[in-house]
Amino acid sequence: MKKFFLPVFITTLLFVLPTEKNLYANEPDSAYLFAYGEENGSGLYFAWSIDKLQWNAIGHHHTFLRSDYGRWGSQKRMYNPYLYRAPNGEWHCTWSLNHEDGAVAHTVSSDLVYWKPQSYPVLMAGGNCLNPEIAYDPYKNGFHIIWQSDNPTEGLFKSFTNDFRHFSPATGLDKHPDNRSELTIGGAVKKGTVHRVSWKEVNRLFSSQRETAYKQLLNSERVAMNPDQFRNPITVNITPDSKEKKSISDLLIGIFYEDINYAADGGLYAELVQNRGFEYSLSDKEGNDKTWNNRYAWSSTHMDAFHIDSLSPIHPNNPHYAVLEIEHNGVALINDGFNGIPVKAGEKYDLSLFARSPEKKRGPVKVRLTGKNGEIYGETTTGRIGNKWKKMKAVITVSATAPDARIELLPQQTGRVELDMISLFPQNTFKGRKNGMRADLAQTLADLKPRFMRFPGGCVAHGDGIGNIYRWENTIGPLEARKPQRNLWGYHQSFGLGYFEYFQFCEDIGAEPIPVVAAGVPCQNSAHHGCVIGGQQGGIPMEEMDVYIQSILNLIEYANGDAKSEWGKKRAEAGHPEPFNLKYIGVGNEDLISDIFTERFRMIYDAIRKHYPEITVIGTAGPFSEGSDYTEGWKLTTELGVELVDEHYYQPPGWYLNNQDYYDRYDRTKAKVYLGEYAAHVPGRHNNLETALSEALHLINVERNGDIVEMTSYAPLLAKEGNTQWNPDLIYFNNSEVKPTVGYHVQKLFGNHAGNEYYSSLIVASDNREDIRKRIASSFVTDAETNDLIIKMVNLLPVDVSSTIDLSKMNIAQGEEANLIVMNGDLDDKSVTPAESAITVSEVLDYQLPAYSLSVIRIKRKELSE
Ligand code: AHR
Repeated sequence: MKKFFLPVFITTLLFVLPTEKNLYANEPDSAYLFAYGEENGSGLYFAWSIDKLQWNAIGHHHTFLRSDYGRWGSQKRMYNPYLYRAPNGEWHCTWSLNHEDGAVAHTVSSDLVYWKPQSYPVLMAGGNCLNPEIAYDPYKNGFHIIWQSDNPTEGLFKSFTNDFRHFSPATGLDKHPDNRSELTIGGAVKKGTVHRVSWKEVNRLFSSQRETAYKQLLNSERVAMNPDQFRNPITVNITPDSKEKKSISDLLIGIFYEDINYAADGGLYAELVQNRGFEYSLSDKEGNDKTWNNRYAWSSTHMDAFHIDSLSPIHPNNPHYAVLEIEHNGVALINDGFNGIPVKAGEKYDLSLFARSPEKKRGPVKVRLTGKNGEIYGETTTGRIGNKWKKMKAVITVSATAPDARIELLPQQTGRVELDMISLFPQNTFKGRKNGMRADLAQTLADLKPRFMRFPGGCVAHGDGIGNIYRWENTIGPLEARKPQRNLWGYHQSFGLGYFEYFQFCEDIGAEPIPVVAAGVPCQNSAHHGCVIGGQQGGIPMEEMDVYIQSILNLIEYANGDAKSEWGKKRAEAGHPEPFNLKYIGVGNEDLISDIFTERFRMIYDAIRKHYPEITVIGTAGPFSEGSDYTEGWKLTTELGVELVDEHYYQPPGWYLNNQDYYDRYDRTKAKVYLGEYAAHVPGRHNNLETALSEALHLINVERNGDIVEMTSYAPLLAKEGNTQWNPDLIYFNNSEVKPTVGYHVQKLFGNHAGNEYYSSLIVASDNREDIRKRIASSFVTDAETNDLIIKMVNLLPVDVSSTIDLSKMNIAQGEEANLIVMNGDLDDKSVTPAESAITVSEVLDYQLPAYSLSVIRIKRKELSE
């Protein structure tokens, strides 16, 4: 038997990782370094030479720096990178971004390996900045940036800067210094800059490239192993130490709700009418879908009689409405819902609409739910239409079950009839709330027993450019006065599901609400929209920041303020006089930690600290588990004393297998972690038992670090079949079914079997091979509320593992029945669900961990006095 304590994985990493030491005895003291880009803008590459004749690329197509500007995909481009070493030894890199924007990119590094977050100063608003170069001016102790422009007129320009933050206005220049060289690397001609550097610096680049390659190798490891490698049975002795215990967070499992993949309209929000306010707009899809306009999802029996107007709307925030010009009775306005309206026999549906007619003889509106062949599933008639906008309500009882009904509105009059905010809700919403949530989906979320809910994003929270930042005030109050907007995932947000509904839903499922607001900057992946100011990486102008910060303070007052306070009153008017007891607020979402971000984050943070010191602010540390935003995000939050930091990473199974000590290494004196977005991703981006078990493994490691990791949430949460922008997701659904994934069941097991005290344990295995030991993990927690002991075990081996668990010191009642829940199967199985059974407890418990499995054993403990 070989003993091992968890974690043991870092030791391997240290042995294998390359160092900066010379590989060979007679290496030179210095060399030439060539820094160059590729025509496709993929990044910065290096090659070295001793004699300037023979050049060798460092790594096979290894990128040392990539552009982070613009959207993923086509926009993150680095054209003509120019590397410059300043007299103080720092390396500056500048490059051009595209042909449209008047910005250049800049970043700086002391070692060519770690690059600071990039900035994109606008040097030529209305023009463009091509082939930028940097030159040092010793007289002014600063730098000139020199570039060419071909838009709107051709020319050469320069601007002076001391700090790469403030730049003098562009002035013309006669001659481009053109300090770039052309060299042949790997048979192709590349353009770039040549530098004389110490061999140590070249060696550092080798090391960095090898480290990246090594990490890629680890990340590419898959869970599956060849069963032939296990001729001898594997056994483990596991001994929890009743004295080695620590308190862990009781908020570990929560949910991250974002309106992505139709998670809100057509999803969790139970509204059945699509485009009820006639506010869909071509711009929601950036003009790419000509049918996505005010009439989307609507039609009429008499198309000529149906048009859209905006002359005199119910509310300026909701400017469009439908007009029917009716010559004869029988003209109907029809909505197909979100690809069909699902109805259930015997259920009641709340109809509401606004109507108005200038005619003298005005009638009611007949409303019916119909099937494909004209079957009438239910109908009702409203009161008489007025000559001013009037809200009318009725209830429809449905006689049949169908997935794809449509709603027809037939005004019982002739002449002009105007209609808006046509809405149909099942009365059977989650907890029967009006304007509420779809019952089955909401229940599926509640079943996770989430301890918190983060909303409204993700990228949706900080938006695609400043104009698209999520403004919470636009999402509260009467539905007809809410201000809809484009969803950056390429559709429409009606905001029927808004901040009031989020807070109320959190309360209904017993989850702490965690709103996330933009840190005064839009999404780091915003489109550049042909202009930088207000686009990607631009911040809310300083002169508007006071108003923006006040809006965040108003949000806290809305949640927690007295019902007589300005914003608390609005909450009370919405039906919730009691405060929502908000404790946390997220500021920023995996942003680029630029100067623009930092300045605004500090302002927001200081204001919240000053006015609401009792609220915990959650900072942000970029989109990855390493890199400059991660490093600088942590640096900033540590400097400011922010209590919680939101980390995001989507990683392959190999990362979870080989980074089990990730949080063991975290400094306990710094901020705690909110792992706000994570998931295991495999090629093809689906979830199966392999991804689910990788996530389970990670959660076991997180439980061990529950003293520093406060909360976790898988992302994204919801996805409507046929309307997904991101895979994998935790729960898929269509109009009538909810399809929890295998990963959902893992989350549910951890959510339903959480503890608040963690016990260290010793695992002694019959074979100490590394591939074996990193595939077996366990955690022991107790739950103060029930006094239960909860054992979670993951076996990622292709064979069963016989375990002997020594519970003699864990205060368990010998011979009692305990609850055993197991998920196991083939790694590529997408439909594994947990199986429950009973297990008899003994002080020395023999338990066979099935191949590829997660097991949870929940044991009632004796009362302490027993
Ligand atoms: O979870 C999907 C997206 O992933 C989120 O919107 C964003 O924060 C992250 O990049």
